[in-house]
Amino acid sequence: MSSESSIALTTLDVLQRPLQDLRISVTDRCNFRCPYCMPSEVFGERYAFLPKPEILRFEEIERLTRIFAQLGVRKLRITGGEPLLRAELPCLIERLAGIPGVEDLALTTNGVLLAQHAEALRAAGLVRVTVSLDALDEATFQRLSGRRAEVARVLDGIEAARSAGLAPIKINAVVIKGVNEHAVLELVDQFRGTGHILRLIEFMDVGTRNAWDRERVVSADEMLARIDAVYPLEPVAPARAGDVARRYRYRDGAGEIGIIASVSEPFCGGCTRARLSADGQLFTCLFGTQGYDLKALLRGTASDDVVRQRLREIWRRRSDRYSEERGELTMAQPSASGPAHSRVEMNRIGG
Ligand code: GTP
Ligand code: 5AD
Ligand code: SF4
Ligand code: SF4
Repeated sequence: MSSESSIALTTLDVLQRPLQDLRISVTDRCNFRCPYCMPSEVFGERYAFLPKPEILRFEEIERLTRIFAQLGVRKLRITGGEPLLRAELPCLIERLAGIPGVEDLALTTNGVLLAQHAEALRAAGLVRVTVSLDALDEATFQRLSGRRAEVARVLDGIEAARSAGLAPIKINAVVIKGVNEHAVLELVDQFRGTGHILRLIEFMDVGTRNAWDRERVVSADEMLARIDAVYPLEPVAPARAGDVARRYRYRDGAGEIGIIASVSEPFCGGCTRARLSADGQLFTCLFGTQGYDLKALLRGTASDDVVRQRLREIWRRRSDRYSEERGELTMAQPSASGPAHSRVEMNRIGG
């Protein structure tokens, strides 16, 4: 047995949740300005993104991921900002795909640059992609992406991913009341029968800048009822404990959809996810305020054993369950994840 596999063990947090997934943000930049994530009024021309020396190098990400895998991480997801803006991304994918213990390696992208990178990503060992697409009509898409691209480019990206074999492809749509509710059935029609899995996401209060309001959330039940009225659905058992999406299939056999009900039906009880920002901060919750600085550790003299001990210690102390607490909170009563006004922004930890 190699020394790496002999160390692999389950690391549990305070709520007995194992550390199993690592979401790695490789850049805080994006070529979109989705108003629910990077509104253009805030992320303007002069916005100070991370300077290059602050961003983890590929060898640093690889080293850290190897140690995470020794602690039980099996599933990796590359995120951003927009991860395809990171130069030489396939070189990172190749390094990560070779790590013992890694069983799944996925990437979340807005799809605009996917057509030009799909083949190289696949060749490097990427298993699958998730493409964000909130509407199919140009006007709504423009509004929700900050007028940076066209729907056709994203559809081309999805097609390129399909022909490169990056499957199953998931399509993520964040649904916001009064903005793109009408897109739900259009997206259903577009992707039914294609083998791609459409996932409808309740609008969440991530970060501090997206003007979230509970009134703007379209609940999972509401979305399901609308789809079921046209295309009857039936539930499917979760593929894996801890997955974020509730699964359904079309009764007529046209495939599967997922619903991510983080607001109406939080899933913190099974949350096995750690998140690494591009500048090497570790967050134990999407709604966290305080990252743990791993970059300083990596760039110091710490041995792998010391880094491993630190990661284990962080995970063992973890008690985050923000989405479950959301309903119970008042401003005077901050959650374990910290006060709302200093939450980490979505573009730093990739959702
Ligand atoms: P799969 O491995 O394909 O199931 O991917 P995923 O659903 O974990 O990842 P994806 O990046 O596609 O995320 C889908 C949506 O779920 C996004 O809106 C994420 O922000 C949200 N999401 C992912 N993980 C969490 C989580 O731990 N908590 C909450 N509240 N939302 C999450
Ligand atoms: N609520 C729900 N999902 C969001 N995403 C970004 N911001 C939000 C939000 N406020 C989604 C993106 C992407 C995924 C990683 O997270 O659309 O598909
Ligand atoms: Fe970019 Fe994704 Fe955020 Fe939109 S949601 S601004 S595509 S990182
Ligand atoms: Fe996990 Fe935090 Fe999301 Fe709950 S809110 S599922 S603890 S990331």
